[in-house]
Amino acid sequence: MTENAHSKLTVVGAGSVGSSTAYAALIRQSARTIALYDIQTRKVNAEVLDLAHGTQFTGSSEIIGGDDVAVAAGSDVVVITAGAKQEPGQTRLDLAATNVEILRTLLPQLLEQAPDATYILVTNPCDVLTVVAQRITGLPVNRVFASGTALDTSRLRWELGRRLGVSTSSVHASIVGEHGDTEFPLWSSATVGSVPLLNWRGDSPLTERELDWIADDVRDAAYTVIEGKGATNYAIGLTGARLVEAVLNDEHAIMPVSTVLDEYHGISDVAISVPSIVSAAGAFPLAGVPYSTNERRLLQASADTLSISLRLLGF
Ligand code: 2OP
Repeated sequence: MTENAHSKLTVVGAGSVGSSTAYAALIRQSARTIALYDIQTRKVNAEVLDLAHGTQFTGSSEIIGGDDVAVAAGSDVVVITAGAKQEPGQTRLDLAATNVEILRTLLPQLLEQAPDATYILVTNPCDVLTVVAQRITGLPVNRVFASGTALDTSRLRWELGRRLGVSTSSVHASIVGEHGDTEFPLWSSATVGSVPLLNWRGDSPLTERELDWIADDVRDAAYTVIEGKGATNYAIGLTGARLVEAVLNDEHAIMPVSTVLDEYHGISDVAISVPSIVSAAGAFPLAGVPYSTNERRLLQASADTLSISLRLLGF
């Protein structure tokens, strides 16, 4: 719940991800005003109306929106979900070229309406698009970040909590790297309560093989959901709303998100998720996160994949 009485969030894109983000933000009262913007007039108006019809049961947040970018005026945070979505069998990186073009049109207009906002990229491939968005807008790197592996981390914590019989909130483990096929868990620093995960001796300690399965399951989770229902929307909607709160409430919350890195373990000019401090000033990679030798190798490999993708797009 937000403490900022005058805060404004704009969600760009009224598809299933954007609408679910607005819905989650409305229910959680992440911002005082929530605007939903899309160029598809009938769709966005219908989504806004449907959301507004439920506000008797939410709280003091209001929902507005429409097909005029002016609905974003004065926003404190803008969450971008617009773009081509992943079809069954496609990877997130397959969407890059189409969604770069959408950002080229969209961002200058948004920046005119909301020059002081923090921009959160949810559209995929969100790491690639974070670099593109930062270059297009010229905003400080901290004010343009992607939800990245904050979502995959939530998936990981749910999976671990379930297997170990502890609450999700007692699992402290993160997925880092690309929000995509090269992401991986930081097992070496993961804890359950204050117990290192790798030392966990509860009713059901995890074997190395089980840890590998969990990592694979989390990495492939979106493919599984997309095959079943055509899209993922609820978990990413909640993730987006949670990140908005961390910014608007100046929380200094530590979450893995994706910013353009500068000499982070030798990695520069690509955006990948690493544990970061999220506050009103944006997202700042956290110093001092321990990586095992293998984890450092995987981080570099993930960054290399994204560098290649950016180069192919001309960035
Ligand atoms: C997800 O991980 C598809 O990126 C989206 O749910």
